[in-house]
Amino acid sequence: MSARGTYPDPKAGIMQIALYQGGLSALQGHQNPIKLSSNENPFGPSPKARAAIEAAAADMHRYPDTGHTALRAAIGALHGLDPDRIICGVGSDEVIQFLCHAFAGQGDEVLFTEHGFAMYRICALMVGATPVEVPEADFRVDIDAVIAGITPRTRLVFIANPANPTGTFLSHEELTRLADTIPPNCLMVIDAAYAEFVDGYDGGASLATERDNVVMTRTFSKLYGLGGLRVGWGYGAKGLIEILTRLRQPFNLSTLALAGAEAAIADQDFAQNSVRINNAERDTLTRGLRDLGIKVSDSEANFILARFEDEATADAADAFFKSRGIIVRAPKSYKIPHGLRITIGQPEDNVHVLAAMRAFRGTK
Ligand SMILES: Cc1ncc(COP(=O)(O)O)c(C=O)c1O
Repeated sequence: MSARGTYPDPKAGIMQIALYQGGLSALQGHQNPIKLSSNENPFGPSPKARAAIEAAAADMHRYPDTGHTALRAAIGALHGLDPDRIICGVGSDEVIQFLCHAFAGQGDEVLFTEHGFAMYRICALMVGATPVEVPEADFRVDIDAVIAGITPRTRLVFIANPANPTGTFLSHEELTRLADTIPPNCLMVIDAAYAEFVDGYDGGASLATERDNVVMTRTFSKLYGLGGLRVGWGYGAKGLIEILTRLRQPFNLSTLALAGAEAAIADQDFAQNSVRINNAERDTLTRGLRDLGIKVSDSEANFILARFEDEATADAADAFFKSRGIIVRAPKSYKIPHGLRITIGQPEDNVHVLAAMRAFRGTK
């Protein structure tokens, strides 16, 4: 019997899991807030994806394709990857979970960086492994700190590139330097959820092609505007993908999810237009905030991290934004209490953000 009630104690690590905190989506007193809290595509998904989801609803009595054949083929064709080396998950979160389940357990270490994405710790604890966090340098992954943090017990090293919530980015050379130091009994996972926003970046695909112990994860939740549909994927050595597939529920992606993702990836005009607008708007917002004396690291993603003098100022800015119907993300759980992460919105949203920040600076 458990000390908590008349049921057994959970396995080690589970009670240490702090629940994932998503971005706020509603604001009292504001019917249509500007939601810039979850790095979603402000234009939503491609209209073709919506239409495909609606059409697929007619087939909801049928089980979906357990092998995700068409979706893997479409991903492979777009990125020049072997579909047999791709696994699809319920968001890239599920692929992160598969990796932890397959490769880490009690006594093993799962390494990530100081401001790293929350799911790395959560999934490590889920499987009874020990989460290990190493420092970043100026809100950027510090390769030397990661290398120094690897021990004979390390089984997984998670690097988000671009990183969330900082938006900062490691070059191919830096990723390669890290990959060179990863021991054979350890996996380096390049979480490339925001890869599409970086011009000329393959998300770590070439490293994962060349090396058996490098895996790349990707998502349809960000650029493709399908966060609510839950589709992500991973790419790695064929044998490794076969290992992960053993852990995958046969029907993890619904008929609607498969149809939506297939249509979204086919509409590259929509996707590339979103990238173009995001990147131009991100630069404008970054410059505008810096002109107001706010620190902003160079971001390669679809959000920026604004850093204030202290936590109280960040809290006051957050409250001021809310009073204007703008929801951003306070990354306190990411150890950046003096920051606010702002997703790049539609151009008019960003005008509101800058106006609010100007007013905040003026009224403070
Ligand atoms: C760095 C990073 N990785 C993975 C994810 C998970 O995305 P999803 O499970 O929606 O694919 C996110 C979402 O916020 C993220 O920021």
